Amino acid sequence: MHIDKLELTFMRLSAMMMAVFATAVLIAVFGLGIQLPGAVEQLAPADVDTAPGFSRPGLRELYPGRYEVHMTAQTWQFNPSQLEIPAGSEVTFYLSSKDIIHGFKVVDTNINIMIIPGQVSEVTATFDEPGTYQFVCHEYCGAAHHTMAGTITVTGE
Ligand code: CUA
Repeated sequence: MHIDKLELTFMRLSAMMMAVFATAVLIAVFGLGIQLPGAVEQLAPADVDTAPGFSRPGLRELYPGRYEVHMTAQTWQFNPSQLEIPAGSEVTFYLSSKDIIHGFKVVDTNINIMIIPGQVSEVTATFDEPGTYQFVCHEYCGAAHHTMAGTITVTGE
């Protein structure tokens, strides 16, 4: 079979690009720890208030340096909306909505997740740098959407 020289060049170029992209994905996942936020379980909005973890939303220390947060979202607030952790902490967020779709983006981190009614969303991040990290709802959820926010305060060790 004859393949034109120019066509062959583009086939090689395409194969090289695919190899580069696949390598970039592998580096992102295993090297940089970038991950897709997972939907870990189904949870109806009406059941959020009584579900394990979500019945008492807040920050829990599992052991030194390791935390989990159960957080609810509803128009137009997060609960809890203020968190404080020491620098170097690894935090797993479990989020669920009590009404409609909201978003959860923590500024200056790679946390960016949707909070979809009917499911629990999970994302884990480590906060190494002390400072104040604002989080916001980034899915339009009505008149006071722009006020739906909170802060994570990372204190020095
Ligand atoms: Cu909640 Cu926008």
